[in-house]
Amino acid sequence: MTEQMKKAMTERHTVRKFDGTPLSDSEKIILKSRVDELNNKFSLSIALIESEKTPVSLLGKTLMGGTGVYSYFVLAADNREKVDEMLGYAGSDLCLYAQMNGLNTWWMAGTFSRKYVEGFVSGKKIVSIIAVGHGKTQGVPHKSKRMDQVSSYAGEAPEWFKNGVEAALLAPTAINQQAFTITGEGNKVCLTYKSGPMSGIDKGIVKHHFELGAGRENFEWV
Ligand SMILES: Cc1cc2nc3c(=O)[nH]c(=O)nc-3n(C[C@H](O)[C@H](O)[C@H](O)COP(=O)(O)O)c2cc1C
Repeated sequence: MTEQMKKAMTERHTVRKFDGTPLSDSEKIILKSRVDELNNKFSLSIALIESEKTPVSLLGKTLMGGTGVYSYFVLAADNREKVDEMLGYAGSDLCLYAQMNGLNTWWMAGTFSRKYVEGFVSGKKIVSIIAVGHGKTQGVPHKSKRMDQVSSYAGEAPEWFKNGVEAALLAPTAINQQAFTITGEGNKVCLTYKSGPMSGIDKGIVKHHFELGAGRENFEWV
């Protein structure tokens, strides 16, 4: 599974145009069971929704060119400390899991109709939705910072650290900011993210990618 998730990291790119076909029964079953696992593990209230009306806002349609979005994850939970980061981490897992199963995704923290989506998860904090479905294309790799611009290691960096940073650079971040810094010393790793409205979510996504790339057994977060 981890190897497939790692492959999915290199293949996943944002896709904003979907063909509008509904998820198949088997796709729904596997995605729902992954959602259930994550909800249980992290006490979240993520929902997989299929609706007749698209959740994409006017801005998302006109400016970002979003079309054919009728299935999506709503990243929701009871509001508490670090919940944005937890939802980012779980959302990243869902994107890679979807990719692994031949589906495409689009993170939307801004360009969705919040009022409409709120109806599906009442009383919960919603940080973003993620469109999931059959993309019209596979998307393109994002423009990326270099490893030395986002990371440093005390002494010679071990392979696992370099692999982790490489994986972190593949992570989707809001407006492709990649505003993170990863520092390492021995087996201790520290991740910081420049403060902003999406920094909690982005931090969770980057953390998830770093763990997959580096191997959780090789280091400890500090
Ligand atoms: C937390 C988060 C929020 C995002 N919000 C939006 C959004 O509201 N609208 C949009 O079109 N793209 C949104 N994106 C997609 C990013 O622009 C995209 O992930 C980034 O440019 C990197 O490209 P990639 O996903 O192809 O690697 C968001 C991404 C993340 C991680």
